[in-house]
Amino acid sequence: MSLLVGLFDSGLGGLTVLRHVQQHYPHSPCLYLADTARVPYGTRSAEDIRAIAAEVVRWLRQQGVGVLVMACNTSNALALDVAVAEAGVPVVGLIDSVAAVIESDRVGVLATPATAASGAYRRAIHAVRPGATVMEVACPAFVPLIEAGDLSCAELQAAAQDYVAPLLHANVDTVVMGCTHYPLLRPLLADLFPPGTRLVDPAEAAVGRLGPLLASLGDLPEGEQPLLGAAIR
Ligand code: DGL
Repeated sequence: MSLLVGLFDSGLGGLTVLRHVQQHYPHSPCLYLADTARVPYGTRSAEDIRAIAAEVVRWLRQQGVGVLVMACNTSNALALDVAVAEAGVPVVGLIDSVAAVIESDRVGVLATPATAASGAYRRAIHAVRPGATVMEVACPAFVPLIEAGDLSCAELQAAAQDYVAPLLHANVDTVVMGCTHYPLLRPLLADLFPPGTRLVDPAEAAVGRLGPLLASLGDLPEGEQPLLGAAIR
């Protein structure tokens, strides 16, 4: 029987990660928990985020997941150690996965307030590119507006312009969408940056790590090749 892949997020954001997992590993059954009772996570305290992660991951473990993919950057930034301890199975992170494949020294990160304040992206990118400039911008308005469902509303457009401004000023050439809700804003964000700016979805790098992991656990059907993470320049 195939390993059950567990994922969780505060709401619909993690579905952007689930979509990548299902596209690349269609044979893998997935269990996705959307914690809509407590969305948003990104304006909560670190203590809250860690307590929630412990509870949710414990529940996923009880359901028998064989591997956990972090589908929430905020939990990844503040509570990866908690998730690892509670999961009892391999955990694939978003932040380390994407940091390992970034090949730019002028990187912007759009993230929730908790993720941005944690400095997790800066640390992870500096671990592989010590000289890189990493500018993390907190985007508190995004998740509530995305969850409200109107991706073309004027408030989202105005908020995006505000959040992107410091990154334009810093002349970054690579922008990490450091919250799993934000890939839903890709078209809107892409219009605000100069052509050639790379908009990076960390889920792609995480999914690149999931394949070899499933294979090492004996869980890729014959003929299915693990997708290896492509370098992101
Ligand atoms: N989508 C999540 C993340 O990647 C959580 C966002 C939130 O609930 O604030 O951080």
